[in-house]
Amino acid sequence: MTTTPTVSVTLHVNGEAFSLPALDSRTTLLDALREHLKLTGSKKGCGLGMCGACTVLADGRRIKSCLALAALYDDKEITTIEGLARGSGAGLHPLQQAFIDHDGFQCGYCTPGQIMSAAGLLREGHAGSADEIREFMSGNLCRCGAYSNIVAAIAEVAETPLESGPDEE
Ligand code: FES
Ligand code: FES
Repeated sequence: MTTTPTVSVTLHVNGEAFSLPALDSRTTLLDALREHLKLTGSKKGCGLGMCGACTVLADGRRIKSCLALAALYDDKEITTIEGLARGSGAGLHPLQQAFIDHDGFQCGYCTPGQIMSAAGLLREGHAGSADEIREFMSGNLCRCGAYSNIVAAIAEVAETPLESGPDEE
């Protein structure tokens, strides 16, 4: 009989510590968040690092949590969409409000990942133009094709002027 290898992990998520004393060592950060911590804002799209729906911040850097082993992130501060607005008072994070204002979503499945990736992009300083936003958001796919509105939302928060002309889809 084989036994599942387990590890004891404490994840620090949105300012709280969560102890997982017997976590399957193969558990991804995404599954730990969704299945163990019940933080289901981060979505599982492809599970292969291709779509960005699972994007979260680890020490402020955006990562695809479906590719990250939870056990390797117990010394990082994880921020998910549920915690992004912490420090913004009682309201939404400016990116969340901008996505609403610009209709930056349709079905909304990709939206948490888009917003978390945008938060990472802003920290990286890669929002200098609409083209730069498109390029540095290219790891986040949207099957609904809301790209032009997503770029507009991010540009507003970054205070980046949008060039005139047709937006790419
Ligand atoms: Fe992680 Fe698609 S679910 S990149
Ligand atoms: Fe539907 Fe992006 S809003 S996948």
